[in-house]
Amino acid sequence: MIHTNLKKKFSCIVLVCLLFGIICVWKEMKKGDGYNSLQLQTKEFQALKSLQKQSVGSVSQSVSSSSIQDPFRGKQDLSRLRGPSKTTLENSHLVWNKESSSRNLIPRLQKIWKNYLKMNKYKVSYKGPGPGVKFSAEALSCHLRNQVNVSMVEASDFPFNTSEWEGFLPKENFRTKTGLWGRCAVVSSAGSLKSSQLGQEIDNHDAILRFNAAPTDNFQRDVGTKTTIRLMNSQLVTTERRFLKDSLYNEGILVVWDPSVYHTDIPKWYKNPDYGFFENYKSYRKLHPDQPFYILKPQMPWELWDILQEMAPEEIQPNPPSSGMLGIILMMTLCDQVDIYEFLPSKRKTDLCYYYQKFFDTACTMGAYHPLLYEKNLVKFLNLGTDEDIYLFGKATLRGFRNISC
Ligand SMILES: *[C@@H]1O[C@H](CO)[C@@H](O)[C@H](O)[C@H]1NC(C)=O
Ligand SMILES: *[C@@H]1O[C@H](CO)[C@@H](O)[C@H](O)[C@H]1NC(C)=O
Repeated sequence: MIHTNLKKKFSCIVLVCLLFGIICVWKEMKKGDGYNSLQLQTKEFQALKSLQKQSVGSVSQSVSSSSIQDPFRGKQDLSRLRGPSKTTLENSHLVWNKESSSRNLIPRLQKIWKNYLKMNKYKVSYKGPGPGVKFSAEALSCHLRNQVNVSMVEASDFPFNTSEWEGFLPKENFRTKTGLWGRCAVVSSAGSLKSSQLGQEIDNHDAILRFNAAPTDNFQRDVGTKTTIRLMNSQLVTTERRFLKDSLYNEGILVVWDPSVYHTDIPKWYKNPDYGFFENYKSYRKLHPDQPFYILKPQMPWELWDILQEMAPEEIQPNPPSSGMLGIILMMTLCDQVDIYEFLPSKRKTDLCYYYQKFFDTACTMGAYHPLLYEKNLVKFLNLGTDEDIYLFGKATLRGFRNISC
């Protein structure tokens, strides 16, 4: 009797040890998978902890406390989503660390980052200050506003002033077409928007920017219904066969951008674009002459890149910023306040790249070609919202350039 009891006890202990070991190994593996960058500093952890206590205690209190932090915040629909917070601290301390660097990348992405540095496809020769220049949030906002010129190719810009281009560019200026908006939403295409139920909250903005082929049909509950601006890369316009056919593109103002060689002018870029999207642009314009469709000036992405490089703790990929980052800056020039969804990953973070496609790669969050890591650092640094909003809704809030005094 005693003997079998001992045996039972012994096997129980062995089992517990084994389980503990497995958990430890699993945690280590997770760490090596790029999750390091998401580790929160103690300070932020404490902040979140107290926020969560508030939201457990009283939903309305947590909503009003965040609106004090952000005077530009209008009517919010978050209380519905926030509900009685069930989040526990074990899984809630993971929001983006604004000091992330290549050390936080998995070896494969580190290698890609180094290869791009060697390749230097766009002949980047950065001469500015940095890396590692420290800014206050106010100084950084002013720097962005003053250095990054968000403007579109105009009919007077050579060679768009030639007969080949006559009548193709929109007559109305981009700024007069867009007007001035109060609260704007930038909706990333991240896989983590799936099951977010953010649709109503997103639709409750004056203007909504989406990217590339991101649909709303069949995803309304998670991403909303309206599209005010669609920012597309030239690769899509050039190679996506559905571009001229799919009604997805027929809503709102279209903007296409194409990476030029570092700080080159329009005539040189025109002779050597990354993707020769011009013919498809013209075809689309013939099919939809009344829909505004602009071409972003090629200098803008590099003006922004220079600031990303200046701030970053190290050399960044010498490739243009992501469409996501370009869209955020674009909306900051047009709106009082910009709410950005799932650019900084929420608790729904996944390796699923897009909410509308079954394609998995951690590079979509951490960056391979684009200097995504440093873009996210910048957005986290300028965020006026709370860590709780990032964690629960993937939501960051930035102030528009018109509302800052420099
Ligand atoms: C920005 O673009 C506008 C329009 O093309 C131009 O008039 C202005 O000089 C540019 N500003 C800077 C700082 O490059
Ligand atoms: C187009 O612009 C260039 C450079 O500003 C100018 O030299 C040229 O005369 C213009 N062409 C036409 C047809 O207006």
